[in-house]
Amino acid sequence: MSDLKSKINPENIPQHIAIIMDGNGRWAKQKGIPRVLGHHSGVKSVREVTEAAAQIGVKYLTLYAFSTENWNRPPSEVTALMSLLVETIKGEIRDLNKNGVRLMAIGDIEGLPPATLKTLRDGIEKTKDNDRVTLVLALNYSAKWEILRATRYLAEKVKQGICLPSEITEAMFEHELSTYGMPDPELLIRTSGEARLSNFLLWQVAYTELYFTPVFWPDFGKEELFNAILSYQNRERRFGKTSEQLSNE
Ligand code: IPE
Ligand code: IPE
Ligand code: MG
Repeated sequence: MSDLKSKINPENIPQHIAIIMDGNGRWAKQKGIPRVLGHHSGVKSVREVTEAAAQIGVKYLTLYAFSTENWNRPPSEVTALMSLLVETIKGEIRDLNKNGVRLMAIGDIEGLPPATLKTLRDGIEKTKDNDRVTLVLALNYSAKWEILRATRYLAEKVKQGICLPSEITEAMFEHELSTYGMPDPELLIRTSGEARLSNFLLWQVAYTELYFTPVFWPDFGKEELFNAILSYQNRERRFGKTSEQLSNE
């Protein structure tokens, strides 16, 4: 494992990694245990990946923890996920502080159950001065919701005469997104073999490198993260240019 780590180029570490943590249910099913135990095991991966990301100098780690579409799951699973969130945040605050992790959230968090929202706000407040790595939880998150909300804010500004529609820039739009102030993710990982975005960070991943792995989230750890980063480092990010142009820069 340390061998893998030594292959990583410290000069080219993604500043921001986003992860669609998927496959908890199938992991549990494979073992013949209830889905919710898959979610519980997923917490271990969150811990390990956060620590590994911090160790190699990643500054932002955004984890898709609950989508707006996830409300459509059986109520018992939704309740279990919300309780797990409360339990996990409460139980981890001390370690987050010890490890210099700042907690943040993106998504329509006002729509979370009151107990979840309260614990989340408390966790964010208690870790706000940490600066080693920022752990961003996407909760009740929908990229379409976020984009619509930004559009409404900007429409309101136009209505108030603050700017003209033709004056709206990408920077102004980004200012209204919940990720404002964070770099766009250079790398997005999705576990469990699915190859879709499921309404996650649609604006922000416009030029992100995508990495799909068949590994289920509860089995995803340090080593898998390092493999994803190595794959990222072996790619040429051309941003519309040609390979020749890049080698002449
Ligand atoms: C991801 O695992 C966790 C959440 C979406 C909350 P899943 O629960 O989606 O696992 P699968 O896709 O059913 O295996
Ligand atoms: C996406 O996973 C949301 C999270 C990881 C929280 P899902 O498992 O809910 O995605 P779909 O519905 O299969 O695309
Ligand atoms: Mg899933």
